[in-house]
Amino acid sequence: MNNFIFQNPTKIIFGKDTIEKIGEELKKNNMKKILIHYGGGSIKKNGVYDRVISSLKENDIDFVEVSGVKPNPRLSKVLEGIAVAKKNDIDGILAIGGGSVIDSAKAIAGGFYYEDDIWNAFATKNRFKKALPLFVILTLSATGSEMNGNAVITNEKTKQKWTTSGLVLYPKVTIIDPTVQFSLPEKQTINGAVDTISHAMEYYFDGTENNEIQLQLAEGIIRTVINSTEILLKDPENYEARANLAWSATLALNGLLSTGTKGGDWASHELEHSLSALFDVAHGEGLAIIFPAWLKYNYNQHIERFDRFALKIFNIDTGNHAIDAKLGIEALIEWYKKIGQPTTLSEIGVTEKDIENLVKNATQKEYIGRLKRLTEEDVRSIYKLAL
Ligand code: NZQ
Ligand code: ZN
Repeated sequence: MNNFIFQNPTKIIFGKDTIEKIGEELKKNNMKKILIHYGGGSIKKNGVYDRVISSLKENDIDFVEVSGVKPNPRLSKVLEGIAVAKKNDIDGILAIGGGSVIDSAKAIAGGFYYEDDIWNAFATKNRFKKALPLFVILTLSATGSEMNGNAVITNEKTKQKWTTSGLVLYPKVTIIDPTVQFSLPEKQTINGAVDTISHAMEYYFDGTENNEIQLQLAEGIIRTVINSTEILLKDPENYEARANLAWSATLALNGLLSTGTKGGDWASHELEHSLSALFDVAHGEGLAIIFPAWLKYNYNQHIERFDRFALKIFNIDTGNHAIDAKLGIEALIEWYKKIGQPTTLSEIGVTEKDIENLVKNATQKEYIGRLKRLTEEDVRSIYKLAL
């Protein structure tokens, strides 16, 4: 196990009927006036918005709103949020939504104090050093953004979907009430499951040796996600399955699985972000296509780990044969198909003629991948494998 520092400052309030605690939590943190940030309106349909507003009113907390955050959140909305935040002299931000809303709120929180061009917080090492306090009501479990310091934003002008991160971006308090996810369209539940599995796999397949506890945690998360998703596809209001899926998603990307590892591979995420940037694909959908291609391309870099994956996740004994190590990958693809995810680019209308654009978009960064540092040719081959 490698040396590590683990620090996660986010307070989590988890369970049924917890939304109403938000006013009290804001008050405890001296929030008198906040910016409420949300998406396209699901929170108005499922009652979350009304519950939040009455809790704010009960606690005498004033607010302004910026809504309309789209999946794959855009830089223009972040700039709008910063302008509103500055004009209204707010004390903090309350994000109500999934990863897109939370990430947009984080960028506003950091951008509020950032003196340089905000995109430099994503494109350069000059990250956010200070941010407004952020509070979260999570309505979709997938990204782990509710308990981490990452924000992924799309710059519509440059077509770059890039990440920034920092300790200042961790939410102060996050409320996770799994019952508010009863209203999720099936597709969003599935996307969340795939994203969670993918986060666990980024750490699982980064080439670290002697990290037994992290491997077992990752395996436990992946198995739990598979079981919970299968229950939810039949019974979307099953509380225990929702709760297990929700907590798995948080644990998969709150720093826990990263401890003692090389820090994760993340090539599949980088390649998927380019897919989302150019074709506005949902992150969980893009990952169901890209990650299996990355696995197929790289399994011979760490055969034993792929053997172990097949055994621990799908109960397939590959007998430590290089050829059979691929059986676990095939089983994962079959499961993605079973739950209704596309597993090839052609299924979402992306074809051979788009590959060069994807390669160009994905190779703008310093490097991609840890298990294997990917060259431009590797990136091209992985996209082609995904066709
Ligand atoms: O906008 P509304 O109307 O709220 O609808 C949303 C949205 O259309 C809907 N939804 C959310 N909660 C709901 C609901 N519908 C009904 N009932 C509810 N309870 O779901 C749709 C998708 O929401 P979105 O926030 O886009 O999904 P997700 O949570 O999967 O976030 C994806 C974004 O996060 C980034 C992704 O790249 C993508 O941009 N990621 C962020 C990470 C992080 N910050 O650490 C890491 C991830 O790897 C990922 O890259
Ligand atoms: Zn992800």
